Amino acid sequence: MGELPDPVAGPGEVVVEVHAAAVNFSDILIVKGTYQVAAPVPFTPGSEFAGRVVEAGAGVEGLAPGDAVMGSTFVGAFAQRVAVPATGLTALAPGTDMRAAAAFGVAYATAHHSLTLAARLVPGETLAVLGAAGGVGLAAVEVGRLLGARVIAVASSAAKRALCLAKGAEVALPYDDLKRRLAAAGGADVVLDLVGGEHAEPALRAMRWGGRFVSVGFAAGDIPRIPLNLVMLKGVTVGGFEIGGWGRRDPEALRRGRAELARLFADGKLEPHVHAVYPLERGAEALAAVANRTSAGKVLIVPG
Ligand SMILES: NC(=O)c1ccc[n+]([C@@H]2O[C@H](COP(=O)([O-])OP(=O)(O)OC[C@H]3O[C@@H](n4cnc5c(N)ncnc54)[C@H](OP(=O)(O)O)[C@@H]3O)[C@@H](O)[C@H]2O)c1
Repeated sequence: MGELPDPVAGPGEVVVEVHAAAVNFSDILIVKGTYQVAAPVPFTPGSEFAGRVVEAGAGVEGLAPGDAVMGSTFVGAFAQRVAVPATGLTALAPGTDMRAAAAFGVAYATAHHSLTLAARLVPGETLAVLGAAGGVGLAAVEVGRLLGARVIAVASSAAKRALCLAKGAEVALPYDDLKRRLAAAGGADVVLDLVGGEHAEPALRAMRWGGRFVSVGFAAGDIPRIPLNLVMLKGVTVGGFEIGGWGRRDPEALRRGRAELARLFADGKLEPHVHAVYPLERGAEALAAVANRTSAGKVLIVPG
């Protein structure tokens, strides 16, 4: 560990003074060295933040010192200042709460885009979310409700399930005996799987005919294998969503989704749940709270 010099904005880059940064599951994997892309060592972790522009590099248009922005990057956000390409930033309306903005971007974009683009969720359907009390999971509960779905949340503890119910889930279930519990709750048209491991198959088995099973993450660590006979017999479509890849192939769809989310956020219709806020010097504890599953919703790190 050591102090790094303040970053300088290169061409097309912007230096942002970080007011709040959010912990994402990928930060844990990057720190552990198990993410699909390795960060060059040494590095400062942190992939999502909100703050104010302090310097705009050559060629940057539309952003000036003092502007409020939120953004994402691969690493570097758990710091007082971060340099990012201007394309990774979204301008914030004056007066936007920086902590809510830091907690919003990745989780709600992942939830909204996976439900609309990959799952094609329609009003009146039943959505089951595995890992429903996590950052993306709680966002999916809220967004699913707003899209007109009945939401079944699956989470490990009574406190997490109570939070899911407060965020709009109609039913909240533990993981054990999942197939029977989900079936008893009416089954699901759409399963949003953020967990994988041993929980994917029971959820698939409790799906209604013609449903969509969408894989978004493997928080449990193991990548499940899906028996295709179930897919065949149930007429289920198995799909997936990864925000980076989808954004490269269909940037216009993600732009439309981001605009819709920005409107819902500004109207106060979506409200990220912040579990805890840690000062920068206790950043390791913030990462641990997410890694050991004691947190729900988003954990923030605040420099200063
Ligand atoms: N595809 C994409 O574009 C994309 C984007 C963002 C995130 N993701 C993925 O989505 C998943 C959720 O991300 P997140 O940021 O919401 O993470 P998070 O806040 O840490 O939530 C993960 C949730 O998974 C549940 N879980 C179940 N088994 C677990 C285990 N063995 N270890 C850890 N957690 C376990 C935990 O809830 P319980 O304790 O209730 O089980 C936890 O709330 C991750 O796999 C992440 O990589 C994918």
